Amino acid sequence: METLANLLQNNRQWASDRIALQSDFFKRLENIQSPKYLWIGCSDSRVPANEIVALDPGELFVHRNVANVVVHTDLNCLSVIQYAVDVLHVEHIMVVGHYGCGGVRAALQNNRYGLIDNWLRHIQDVNQKYRSIIETAGDIDKQEDRLCELNVIEQTLNVAETTIIQDAWAKGQPLQVHGWVYGLKDGIIRDLKITMDSADDMTGIYQRAVSGVKI
Ligand code: CO
Repeated sequence: METLANLLQNNRQWASDRIALQSDFFKRLENIQSPKYLWIGCSDSRVPANEIVALDPGELFVHRNVANVVVHTDLNCLSVIQYAVDVLHVEHIMVVGHYGCGGVRAALQNNRYGLIDNWLRHIQDVNQKYRSIIETAGDIDKQEDRLCELNVIEQTLNVAETTIIQDAWAKGQPLQVHGWVYGLKDGIIRDLKITMDSADDMTGIYQRAVSGVKI
């Protein structure tokens, strides 16, 4: 088996390149962490959060899981959101899905992989909820794209509905939640227009975003 020596070598090169560009780079980061953004995305190795939006270390707080799912009982995800909102005071939370998501495809095609099927069950719930939109979308690739979009919209609403976000809005903390979908084919992020910045009209914004999913 190959060793990881090459990765450690890459790391030393990266660190010295950073210092060459900015001599106090690590010293500055060591003392403060004040990201303005929380990214909730898919674990997929083709969707590296910082890189896609060209943000440096220290600028993006990140939570990733398979198929960017936000479940109301997931203490891991909720803890990340709570820390980001209450302690770091991020101003934006973006749920970022991506076309070609293996988790979404497995949910749509009812593939069996093991324990993860239970996690993907949440996406099958979205599929069932919006079956009428998805089944008229065309071939399986188009159906998958629509489910990727609808999954983001659903998970963005889940973020907005947490007590963490509701409490932040109730005390007037400036905070927006957004739903985005990233294209593996072109590297471009599309805004699914479900941005919410208060508890007002959440249902309306959510429903308009759902109707904006193109058939
Ligand atoms: Co994915």
